[in-house]
Order: sequence, then structure tokens, then C-alpha cells
Amino acid sequence: MVVGGGIIGLVTAWRAAGRGLRTAVVDPEPGGGAARVAAGMLAAVTELHYGEETLLGLNLASAARYPDFAAELAGASGEELGYRTCGTLAVALDADDRAHLRELHAFQQRHGLVSEWLTGRECRRLEPMLAPGVRGGLRVDGDHQIDPRRLAKALVVACERAGVTFHRQWARRLDVSAGRARGVTLADGVALSAGQTVLAAGSLSGRLDGVPENVLPPVRPVKGQVVRLTVPASHAPFLSRTVRAVVRGSALYLVPRENGELVVGATSEEMGWDTTVTAGGVYELLRDAHELVPGITELPLTETLAGLRPCSPDNAPALGPTSLPGLQVATGHFRNGVLLTPVTGEIMAHALTTGELPPEAGAFGPSRFTGDSGAPTVAPTVLEQSV
Ligand code: GLY
Repeated sequence: MVVGGGIIGLVTAWRAAGRGLRTAVVDPEPGGGAARVAAGMLAAVTELHYGEETLLGLNLASAARYPDFAAELAGASGEELGYRTCGTLAVALDADDRAHLRELHAFQQRHGLVSEWLTGRECRRLEPMLAPGVRGGLRVDGDHQIDPRRLAKALVVACERAGVTFHRQWARRLDVSAGRARGVTLADGVALSAGQTVLAAGSLSGRLDGVPENVLPPVRPVKGQVVRLTVPASHAPFLSRTVRAVVRGSALYLVPRENGELVVGATSEEMGWDTTVTAGGVYELLRDAHELVPGITELPLTETLAGLRPCSPDNAPALGPTSLPGLQVATGHFRNGVLLTPVTGEIMAHALTTGELPPEAGAFGPSRFTGDSGAPTVAPTVLEQSV
């Protein structure tokens, strides 16, 4: 049983079903959640942050899986995913941004990552819509993008085709008896039993009633506001790859889809559960995007939206068995949920069928936050256990 039908819960269910586990997903609106707002950058290299070196390994592992994962999911679902291997250009608008980008470049090089320093002129040769004042940039041909809404839809279809059952309701509480998680009770009072329950409810993962305090994953919501524009055929090609920058200390990105959508994001706000789209948030995104690509003011504005990133204390996900037998988690993916979808599916399928994390995920167990022993759950017998 997977609680949460966002992309992380869905990929967990899809991969678990693929391993022969009888699987169900509980969510009032499968395919919703943070992926409805996310831009879908697969930016392991350009979104590298100090202190996240361990996470980098997982991000790169997932990025490397993307081509095969996307092909397999497209085949299994019959859906187009909007996966685009277009690369990314990170640019600097002033001397401070340039210094920051130079540092990022050196940091990337220390980790053996592939990125190339370009002058402002070289940046504009690649992307002629960039402002004349661009001072330099980093070309990262390995950072791509996918359309998260299409990804979510494809995962729902793939799950359905793999025999996953959907319960389109909220989970009211985790049912625990005799020291073991036994499934969940739904909002309508119906109890669903399961050999194993996976808590994959994004930023809500820390709020399910019945989960013992010492195993609750410490995730918190970090709000992101995003605007969507449309590039009319008369203005195409507007941008040929993802363009990003740090403007006045805030990360900004423009993600151009093949279908003409241009996603501009994102704010990063510690505002609790608030998902209000504010005039200030939209103003700042458009102001900064206009400095970077002045021509955006001519494009139709089609959507404004805010979502909640599930953030953990070290910005990395919590994956696999908790110290409560029968309960696993897959949450806390923060800025990297879309990027980490392929590897999370594999890790969780492994954890559900063996009771252990695979070696590549050893650093991401939930017990690093709770201080529990993280004792593995009893390994289920494939086909006889339900998830
Ligand atoms: N990964 C982009 C964001 O979290 O805004």
C-alpha cells in the first residue's frame, strides 16, 4: 500500500507491481501533488549545492537512468512524456552572479562534472533572446528536462496497466497493532490492510495520524511559485534549452517545452502550508526573467501556480524501511523529486522485496533523522504479500 499518488508514490507502486507485489495507491487525486507545479528540470549539475555532495551521487545515478526509464514508461503507458535532451545554460547578469557561477564551475570540476565556461557573447550565440548584458555562463549539455504533468499521467496509466489498485481518497490514519504497521484507514472509515505501507505523501508525509512520533519523517513544505507562458509559433524558437540564473540571490529558471510552454520558476519560501499565488511572487519572477530574457513580456501568460516541495533537514530524501515493521517511507525529495523519480522507483522496489536498501541508497535511510536503529522490515514473499 502506497500512501500518496504523486510521482514518487506512483513510481514506487509501478516498480513494486513490476516485481510481482500486489499494490495499491491511496490518494484523492493520483498524479497531482508537487509535480503539477514543478518545471521538470533534470539538473544534477547546474543545481549542485554546497553540502549536498552525497545527494549528488544519487542525482547523477537517477539522471543516468532517465533515457531508459523514459522509454520504458512511454512504452508501458502509451503516453508522451515531454522528455527533452536539450541541455541547460546557466548565465550571470552581473559581476556578483559571475563570481558565483565561477565558483559553481570550480565546484563542478572538483566533482568531475562536465560543464563549459562561456563568455557572454558565446551565451547569446547559443540563445539569441538573452539580454545583451549577460556576463558569461556555464553550458551543461547533460542537464535535461521532462514535463512533470505528463510524467505523472504516464505513471498513473502505467500503474493501472500493471494492476495497481487506486483508492481515490485521503488516508485518515496508519493502522498499527502489535508493533507493526498493518495498512491504513481511509477517510470514509474503510480499513485497508497491507503487508507493507509506504508513506510517500510529499510534504504531507509527516502528518499522517497513527505514525509513531519516532518514525515520522521530518519533512516540511517549502513553497514554490511558478508562472507559465506560451511561446506562439510566430516567436519560436524562443529558447532552445533551459536557461537559469541567480538574480539578486534568487534562483531563476526558464524551461522551454517542445509544445511551446515556457515555465518560469521558482520562488523558495518557508510559508508553512500556504499555497497562495502572490502578486509579489509573480512580480519577482517576471521582473527577474525580464532582465534575463527581455522578450518574455510579449508572451501570453497562461498560468500561475504555487506548490510545496517536501524538504528534509539535509535536503535529501528519506527512503526505505523505518524502525516500525511494515512501514517504509519515500519522501523528502525537495528540489529533486522529478530528477530522482527513476532511481527512487528502483530503490523502493528493492526495499519492498528484500527489506533492505540497495548499497547506492545506504546514506538515505530514514533512521538518519529519527535516530532509530532503522531495523529492516520483514522481507515479504513476492506475490503473497500486498504493498
Ligand atoms: N528544482 C527546482 C526547484 O525546486 O525550484
